[in-house]
Amino acid sequence: MIDIKDVHKKFGQKVVLDGVTTQIQDGKTTVFIGPSGCGKSTILKIILRLIEPDSGSINVDDQDILKYSQKKIDDFRSTAGMVFQSAALFDSLSMWENVGFALLEREHKKRDEVKKIASEKLRIVGLEGSEDLFPSELSGGMQKRAAIARAIAQDPKLIFYDEPTTGLDPITSTVIEELMKKLQVDMGITSVIVTHQHSTIFNNADIITMFHKGKVYATGVPDEFINAKDELVRNFIEGRVS
Ligand SMILES: Nc1ncnc2c1ncn2[C@@H]1O[C@H](COP(=O)(O)OP(=O)(O)OP(=O)(O)O)[C@@H](O)[C@H]1O
Ligand SMILES: [Mg+2]
Repeated sequence: MIDIKDVHKKFGQKVVLDGVTTQIQDGKTTVFIGPSGCGKSTILKIILRLIEPDSGSINVDDQDILKYSQKKIDDFRSTAGMVFQSAALFDSLSMWENVGFALLEREHKKRDEVKKIASEKLRIVGLEGSEDLFPSELSGGMQKRAAIARAIAQDPKLIFYDEPTTGLDPITSTVIEELMKKLQVDMGITSVIVTHQHSTIFNNADIITMFHKGKVYATGVPDEFINAKDELVRNFIEGRVS
């Protein structure tokens, strides 16, 4: 479990996170929702130590990861995959090199071995045979799947997906939703999905966490959101979400 307590973050004068307290349960899918600009991507980057918060604590196995040494940050990152809001593939690298990037650059594994692992990950996401293609040769949906293949390259215990289905047609979205579910259920990967997309929320969430004005506004199982009386939650559920 990841135990996030009272995390604050300002960019300049702008308060983005104003005391975020929430938990991410092991082995489950937690979906983060909330209006554009409310800090959802920021909190993911803080957990991965890509952005430093101003204050707060984030405990994993009873240790505050905000106090980790660089070595422990690197170890933690190798157990956590991230699918960024843009697929963020390297245009000049082939698919297998993209997928195996951390294995080549951080773990210094041999190219033959990495290509084998990358092929297996590409197969899991339904992109077998694309090892030697370049990102520009793939559709947006395929690039998202490739980004997921890269996120699972180091067999993570945890994956963060930042808007994995945004901008995709409904069929491709469903493919990605099923893939995220498969990784969580079959491989037991704890998953955090940031999304605005209704289908993704209700197809994937075990727990929904709603952010508003720099804080967690509501947390619950999907049924609690569907049956909620609160106006902000209702607006969201009825699709009046920004
Ligand atoms: N590195 C940065 N420097 C300055 N401001 C930033 C930085 N990163 C984020 N912000 C600001 O913090 C706020 C929250 O950004 P964030 O990307 O976390 O929002 P979000 O909830 O993910 O929004 P969206 O749903 O549109 O992706 C925004 O106002 C953004 O402009
Ligand atoms: Mg975002």
